[in-house]
Amino acid sequence: MIEISPELQKVLKSARKVAVLTGAGISAESGVPTFRGEEGLWSKFRAEELATVDAFMRNPELVWEWYMHRRQLMSTVKPNPAHAALVEMEKLYDDFTLITQNIDGLHRQAGSKNILELHGNISLNKCFACGRPFTEDIDLESNQLPACECGGKIRPDVVWFGELLPPDALNRAFDASARAELFLSVGTSAVVHPAASIPLTAKSNGAFLVEVNLEPTPITEFTDWAFHGKAGEIMPAIVESLKK
Ligand code: OAD
Repeated sequence: MIEISPELQKVLKSARKVAVLTGAGISAESGVPTFRGEEGLWSKFRAEELATVDAFMRNPELVWEWYMHRRQLMSTVKPNPAHAALVEMEKLYDDFTLITQNIDGLHRQAGSKNILELHGNISLNKCFACGRPFTEDIDLESNQLPACECGGKIRPDVVWFGELLPPDALNRAFDASARAELFLSVGTSAVVHPAASIPLTAKSNGAFLVEVNLEPTPITEFTDWAFHGKAGEIMPAIVESLKK
């Protein structure tokens, strides 16, 4: 039984401006591996060998192989009840922003509308040199990596370690968090910046800060309410209490 405190219920009902930050934990119950922890993706692969500009320049084929593997994995997964709960929440508030660090596209697939993808989207590609989107299919079997009309190599449209986040999405995320009356941080270890500073920006601007995560994180001590458990169980309970 998930307890929703009267204080939280009051904020859930009275808030009009709401922002949510999600991380890999929200997609864990859909079968997408998280980054950290025993089952994390990075415990099997070394991130610095794969998700960096250097890695791509050194060995684009290897980086592409890894992304094609993840793309294949993510193409078979479906949104879970936590994604669905956020779709419901969006309908209940006038000002609702969903900020995600996930590249799996599951929020959009579930039906969320106002989404800021801070780390890109694994189903999209762009030119490494000029940044232009590349929409043709990629066939690794042909042994020829695709090239842009400018001659640049094509890469997945995701943010790699050491790269800047898309400035427009990041600014909009900080704006949404600064004006939010209620902020939820869901399924993120809250250790990778700048995304991890977004909930704290909300808190320091007066938002009621709620965390939903399997375990405590560095932001837990700043929250007004922390749920420790599965997002797929807690998020639907939060939305149910909102409708009561
Ligand atoms: P992490 O893997 O760091 O953290 C996932 C969090 O979700 C952990 O704290 C888990 O305890 C929690 N978790 C796991 N299953 C859960 C469930 N069913 N319900 C609720 N919580 C659950 O993933 P992120 O915080 O998203 O960046 O990682 C942030 C960034 O680090 C990623 O976007 C990626 C990586 O480097 C880039 O690739 C640029």
